[in-house]
Amino acid sequence: MLDPKTIRKDFPMYRNQLQMQGKPLIWLDNASTTFKPDCVLEAITRYYTHETSNSHRGDYDLCYHVDQEILQARKDVAKFIHASSENEIVFTSGTTSSINLVAYGYGGIVLQPGDEILIDEAEHASNVLPWYIIAKQKGAKVKFIPLTKEGRLTVENLRKSLTRKTKIVSLAQVTNVLGYLLPVKEFAKIIHEAGAVFVVDGAQSVPHMKIDVQDLDCDFLSWSGHKMLGPTGIGVLYGKYELLEKMDPYLVGGGMNQKFDIHGDYSFYLPPARFEAGTINIEGIYGLHAAVKYLEGIGMDQIQAHERELKAYAVQKLKESGNAVLYNENGETGILTFNIKDVFAQDAATFLNSRGIACRSGQHCAKILNDFLGTPATVRASFYLYTSKEDIDALADAVKHGKDFLDAYF
Ligand code: ALA
Repeated sequence: MLDPKTIRKDFPMYRNQLQMQGKPLIWLDNASTTFKPDCVLEAITRYYTHETSNSHRGDYDLCYHVDQEILQARKDVAKFIHASSENEIVFTSGTTSSINLVAYGYGGIVLQPGDEILIDEAEHASNVLPWYIIAKQKGAKVKFIPLTKEGRLTVENLRKSLTRKTKIVSLAQVTNVLGYLLPVKEFAKIIHEAGAVFVVDGAQSVPHMKIDVQDLDCDFLSWSGHKMLGPTGIGVLYGKYELLEKMDPYLVGGGMNQKFDIHGDYSFYLPPARFEAGTINIEGIYGLHAAVKYLEGIGMDQIQAHERELKAYAVQKLKESGNAVLYNENGETGILTFNIKDVFAQDAATFLNSRGIACRSGQHCAKILNDFLGTPATVRASFYLYTSKEDIDALADAVKHGKDFLDAYF
């Protein structure tokens, strides 16, 4: 296991909160966002205090330097997911804008009336709504691959759902509520045999495990910087270059056009510049770059193993509490979704907060899934490299006493 005590020394949120508040800080909402280590904050500050300049817009040293920093960040992000070229890395504002870009930029050019897009009931809003909108615009249909009773996708159900009309399949590698790990490589093979492209939402996977897009053979992969120790407002769309090359931008403006004239003629740069209109989030790229380096320094395999061990420990402790309903005890990742028996999820989360424990509660932006789970809301605890077994002990103790307390209180 990693040593959370040592890791926490790098995180001001741990250093400051522990000193500032009477109660401990037990942060178990990492699927929502993560704390930032000093190196990320320093990278952002360095940009503002020593290196401020726009990119691609000046013939002076500072601008040239920033361009080099962005190029290096793109190369290192490409290396982080084993993309074959930095030109397959588009900087976006996050997973949501990445998936919207694929829906409009790729869906917009390939979808014909009657075509089908496959998703499933466990998907986050940002992997449902862009498909609803583009399907409506193009006369295509969004269909759902059935989940098993446990809430998983299977190869059999994928095969049954694919038809000759399926053009796009868009699925989370790790879903944000149940945390199940999709066998992306196996799915990619079947989806490609059916002639469709495979769009993968990596928001809950890329921050937590080693990713090799060439081995997985997915066509697109999206994720956000803030869920992997980086700043908010920066994310990535990876796309196979031959697909990116075909795509239209959905944002146009400066920095992405080759020329335009008074007659209304215009042309765009090749990807990735084509998809990065306007001044890009330079401080975000600096911060994301530092986060990638930091995570690599710890080791993605070690992070994944740490979270798996915590997950198993949490399942055991919550079961021992005798007071929890678990929804994903077999999930392979550091997400545990539960309810305190007979207590509404948001009341439970409020009680946890009174003990300094931050968990997300509600529908977690996956609003179709609650019908499937048969509950209006759940509580979600999600772990990361700095989460400790003591955090989970505190959670389990709170869950054990949650019902008595809430009975007395309400
Ligand atoms: N997508 C984030 C979550 O699942 C916000 O909490």
